[in-house]
Amino acid sequence: MSPTKHSNETGYKTGFSSMFFALALAGVSSLSAATLEVDMEAEGKAISPDLVGIFYEDLNYAADGGLYAELIQNRSFEYSATENASWGPLSFWDLVESDEGKGYLSLGNMRPVHVNNPHYLLLNVETAGSGVGIANEGFDQIPVEAGKSYEVSFWAYQAYMGKKWGGSPEEEAEAMPMTARLESQSGEVIAEAKFVVQGREWKQQSATLVPTVTTDQARFVLIAEKAGGIALDMVSLFPHDTFMGRQNGLRKDLAQTIAELKPKFMRFPGGCLVHGQGIHQYYDWKDSVGPLEQRKAFRNSWGYHQTLGLGYHEFFQFSEDMGAIPIPVVSAGVCCQHSGDSPGRGQEGMSMEEMPGYIEDVLDLIEWANGSPDSEWGAVRAAAGHPEPFDLKYLGVGNEDAITSIFEVRFKMIRDAVAKRYPEIVVIGTSGPFASGEDYENGWGFARELDLEMVDEHYYVSPQWFWDNQDRYDTYDRNSSEVYLGEYAAHEPDRRNTLRSAIAEAAGLISFERNSDIVRFASYAPLLSRRGHTQWTPDLIYFDATDVYPSLNYEVQRLFSINGGDTDLPFELSGVDASEKLVASVVRDSKSGDIIVKVVNGESQDRSATIDLSSGKKKHYRLTGFVFGNEDAEIVNVDGAGPSVKTLEESGTVKPTFERVFPANSLTIMRLK
Ligand code: AHR
Repeated sequence: MSPTKHSNETGYKTGFSSMFFALALAGVSSLSAATLEVDMEAEGKAISPDLVGIFYEDLNYAADGGLYAELIQNRSFEYSATENASWGPLSFWDLVESDEGKGYLSLGNMRPVHVNNPHYLLLNVETAGSGVGIANEGFDQIPVEAGKSYEVSFWAYQAYMGKKWGGSPEEEAEAMPMTARLESQSGEVIAEAKFVVQGREWKQQSATLVPTVTTDQARFVLIAEKAGGIALDMVSLFPHDTFMGRQNGLRKDLAQTIAELKPKFMRFPGGCLVHGQGIHQYYDWKDSVGPLEQRKAFRNSWGYHQTLGLGYHEFFQFSEDMGAIPIPVVSAGVCCQHSGDSPGRGQEGMSMEEMPGYIEDVLDLIEWANGSPDSEWGAVRAAAGHPEPFDLKYLGVGNEDAITSIFEVRFKMIRDAVAKRYPEIVVIGTSGPFASGEDYENGWGFARELDLEMVDEHYYVSPQWFWDNQDRYDTYDRNSSEVYLGEYAAHEPDRRNTLRSAIAEAAGLISFERNSDIVRFASYAPLLSRRGHTQWTPDLIYFDATDVYPSLNYEVQRLFSINGGDTDLPFELSGVDASEKLVASVVRDSKSGDIIVKVVNGESQDRSATIDLSSGKKKHYRLTGFVFGNEDAEIVNVDGAGPSVKTLEESGTVKPTFERVFPANSLTIMRLK
């Protein structure tokens, strides 16, 4: 490494002066002298203080087996071959016959716990022995910690006792003793709770398990200890220790990693997930609220099962817990144009008979989020523990839909109904999956026709694209709709999360920030990906059952998020060739009073520049700096090895004009007070 490169050791803090001199003295570049001259006295233009947020979609096992803290897989016996040809309601469950025990599993649908949850398990115990039951190993594995509490719960009723046919009245009158256990990989019992199931009506049972041993490979076992038949559903093992201690909450380490991005908003639940594959396969928010056993699990667009245990209430709660603006997205009454194995030709619209009912559902969502607890849907929210409104302000309608007349008619019906009943809600339109092209043009044309307040753009492009399109938003009409860049990412040909891609996104963010008088929100996509269950790369945060692995791209998002401002200041960057990858933004944050200068160098060599703040009144500035970069643009994070590039923090004092070296492939953020 050349002496001009900054250290990759993170956590390394240094007095600014020593760092400054080390960098400033190095003769680093034969390029012409660059100067970044800021007009410190300018009023500047107001920009979005909420530019950086997140887009959450249940893709790559982001919900079940991901952010949702449930540890049992297929808890409601609703897995189906439509999700995966090898799956069925009994997938991920094994029959357990201990000692002389003998029995079998069958499936019931005649007396479901709720109509939305049609299948249940019938555990048939022919000979009890030391117990006959079921076992589950979760999503690849069940990690538990000694001394921590886990809630085991299940719904059950006695289908019969003794023999199925011809059991004696005495046997029929008996209760069924049951035991729930956690076992280590060697079969040792590490936690246990006893239950008694009695009666022909569904009842929920629950108890707390506290394992005596920490293991990443626990097995959950639930056994019945007499001959008979027990109906079981919603068999759950849930840690008490969730993010913010919420019941039915989120996996703590993962939610915490997301919260550390300090997202200003959260878009959910998709993505393609929203409109679904097939006209009646859309994500119906009503299926995702209320008691868990009444939620309607189904196949999500990414080809696996979603329980909806993580549903609208949980999304809104998570947004609130992070201080993020909630931005739900609903279908525009059309399904994905790629539905029915017909790429680009599968768009269908709901019938005109169905549309009024669907529109009422959309209006009900607004009432659910913002209505008083006395309203029909506000009461559902209140019953779930949130009497105060969630303060919904934005509603996405549609996602990357082909802009056809089928779409336009339905979108307009929904938009008009929302505008009539809830004129304060901003409806966000859609401009297709690309940065340009037919749907982009038509989507924007349609938005202008309807005078929409905001349009959702998406683009997944090469790292070079972000450098070549620095001026994209400079020319957007300031009197037209605002932009929500709902999905974007720099894609390498092999879709790795390289430093090059992260730095290209930083360059993109520079251009969004400079234009965030019109670009109000921007979110990287996708957010989460479980190792071994990934349908899409690159992603921002990877994880497995026990660990979380943020990408280099995550760090860029975090740095921009925690260093945003509300006023864009004019500046001139001179001495930089048009083809050179060196871009900057300068903003003021009125809360802290800081001027925040961001510079991204995408070249493979260091670059020096003079920072000129001399138009301001101060003689000195207190500087807090963040430098993130590495001479190797190919570098990636390796799971379990910690970040391959760490942000160097520095602080010190600088004069109004100072020299600065911007290392190769780096993002530098300087907060000046
Ligand atoms: O982010 C992954 C997918 O990309 C989203 O579901 C969709 O909107 C886009 O095509």
